[in-house]
Amino acid sequence: MKFRALTGAFLSAASLGAAVPAFADTELKVYISSQHQPQVWRKMLDQYEAKNPGIKVTIETGGNTSEAQAQYLNTVMSAKDTSLDVLILDVIRPAQFAAAGWTSPFTGKDMSGYLPAYAEANTVDGKIVALPAFADSMFLYYRKDLLEKYGIQPPKTWDELKAAVKKINGGENNPDLQGLSFQGKAIEGAVCTFLLPYWSQGKTLVQNGKLTFDRAAAAKSLALWKSFVDEGVSKKNISEVATDDTRKEFQAGNVVFAVNWSYAWAQAQGKDSAVAGKVGVARLPALTGGDASTCLGGWEWGVSAYSKHQDDAKKLVEFLSSKDVSKFVAINGSLMPTYADLYKDEDVLKSAPWFADALQVVQTAKPRPVTPRYNEVSEIVRTTVNAVLAGVMTPDDGAAQIESRLRRILR
Ligand code: GLC
Repeated sequence: MKFRALTGAFLSAASLGAAVPAFADTELKVYISSQHQPQVWRKMLDQYEAKNPGIKVTIETGGNTSEAQAQYLNTVMSAKDTSLDVLILDVIRPAQFAAAGWTSPFTGKDMSGYLPAYAEANTVDGKIVALPAFADSMFLYYRKDLLEKYGIQPPKTWDELKAAVKKINGGENNPDLQGLSFQGKAIEGAVCTFLLPYWSQGKTLVQNGKLTFDRAAAAKSLALWKSFVDEGVSKKNISEVATDDTRKEFQAGNVVFAVNWSYAWAQAQGKDSAVAGKVGVARLPALTGGDASTCLGGWEWGVSAYSKHQDDAKKLVEFLSSKDVSKFVAINGSLMPTYADLYKDEDVLKSAPWFADALQVVQTAKPRPVTPRYNEVSEIVRTTVNAVLAGVMTPDDGAAQIESRLRRILR
């Protein structure tokens, strides 16, 4: 197929299909992000196939980061390709996909059961354009064993985190142990990296479609992240670190603190982890004197406007977005529920005890700016964060650069 030839160079598409039943007459292809446990969703799809004879579902994955996946889907959807029926979309994208006419709206769907932030993110101009897959926000992962050993509480401010790292490093004397891993690569996650300390100062980026940029607060945010590198708390090449690199470093036991999303828990506690049983998760620290803040993440299920199986694809999405599936992926993949009561569910809490405190965090997480030109906003912020961390731009110049570039697209 044409788009495959075009995109083959930057993605590794994989098919995780089950055996084709002899009577299959409808094949649905579901696009799932490779980072978000396709093997766990596969189990739910197997269940769906068993209950719906005549439907066969295969999985396609591509790209390891949100913007690589978006690039892949942009290519597929621009080509009006009919081979994908159901798409998982980062919470920042339903509006863009709906505006492009790439998703088919759901009519008459009651969204009141979902967490309000996701009901909202999926409703564009009064139309329901996708249904929630899982909730997400950023947390501070930490090595419980090391904090206990040195009598340290999870830090409430970034200064406390630096002091904790100094104490632990002093005692451990292990040059391979990094104090803090976070996302400094020019990926979508770096937009959140920037926003965390920026929001912590009570600032906003966009309000009512207008730019409300605070240059001093932005410079302070960039300077904070750079200081982790300069003070040896984070490794020198943090500008090359993407989300799943942080997850791997932490899981290998090479990191004391890590900024990451909920999915990392299942793997950090899994059988291949060097730190199973030693992982703590807390709210992210605030800037000293500021408020703790976090970034609203999450993923949504959309039906491709080019799917030839509209009704079957919608039925499948209703299932994938149901409470039973949300519970299953919470337990088996530590993907946060989109239904509030599941945060109190005994089985969910047995597998991810910290979800008991996570609902409040998700409910107060801040969304990234909602604008049809989000892709440009994202590109400006993440490439600047990356340049500052790579040492090719000062925090002050970075803040000025973000401001002047954003002014050209948002007034
Ligand atoms: C997580 C979040 C998503 C965010 C991405 C950034 O997957 O759920 O919303 O954009 O990380 O890397």
